[in-house]
Amino acid sequence: MDIFREIKTLKAFLRKKKLAQIPIGFVPTMGALHAGHLSLLAASQKQGLFTVCSIFVNPAQFNNASDLLNYPRTENRDVELLEKIGCDVLFIPSAEEIYQQKPGLNFSFPGLDNVMEGAFRPGHFSGVALVVAKLFHIVEPDHAFFGQKDWQQFTIIRQLVDDLNFNLTLHAVPTMREENGLAMSSRNERLSPENKIKALVFFQTLKLAEAELLNGKTMVEILPKLKTFAENDQDIKIEYLTLANRYTLESVNTIKEKNHLVLCIAGFVGEVRLIDNILI
Ligand code: PAJ
Repeated sequence: MDIFREIKTLKAFLRKKKLAQIPIGFVPTMGALHAGHLSLLAASQKQGLFTVCSIFVNPAQFNNASDLLNYPRTENRDVELLEKIGCDVLFIPSAEEIYQQKPGLNFSFPGLDNVMEGAFRPGHFSGVALVVAKLFHIVEPDHAFFGQKDWQQFTIIRQLVDDLNFNLTLHAVPTMREENGLAMSSRNERLSPENKIKALVFFQTLKLAEAELLNGKTMVEILPKLKTFAENDQDIKIEYLTLANRYTLESVNTIKEKNHLVLCIAGFVGEVRLIDNILI
């Protein structure tokens, strides 16, 4: 695997691939890699793409200084994992390399970035869009792979790609879960073994909500019960549980005659904030 820390040398290397018409698949990450990340890389490799992974803990998307500080960083292990699965290129820039000057650009995605994660993390999606746009310009991939785990992020990146005419195909890869159903996340590394078990309640709440909705119940009817179920343990705090149109993210109350819905949940296990969702 070739490792680059500078934009210039990465671009020079990738230019040769482009001249040889070798299609490039790109998987942007913030590191602390787990099987979920690796499934995105596998999806790229399965399509026979020359696969580039980036690891960059993007300060612009953290609206909380301690969250940025505490974000897990496991560079040596990440490099080993990527070598092992046969990733072709790793781009691992410093913050100074990506933000050579203080960025002036703000993105807003009306309707998409003021709900759910956007409502609780102001500025988060502007920071995500900024770094993803920069990385797309640097790597110029033909395909880019994102996780369904961050469904709202995927929806916003799709809008970014459409609006700015990025010439690439986006792919959403299904959420990789632990055997017990817990969605894999870099943030799980910050959970004690005890809290990791408690964190399961997010997925259980989604499944319970889905069963109730399929039985004809409405969100308004079931929300109080689900909140009580989820917050049965004092370490669990739910921020939102929202049923929404999968593409517009408009919230809806029932699944009656509606297709393409997503059920999203977010909250805290102790100090650690987690999100999850299922497509319905
Ligand atoms: P990060 O949280 O590291 O996630 C990188 C990619 O892995 C994202 O597309 C995310 O949706 C996907 N992913 C995370 N957990 C997953 C799981 N359990 N199963 C499948 N895919 C999973 O998302 C980001 O980084 C950043 O916002 C980024 C897009 C890199 C921009 O900074």
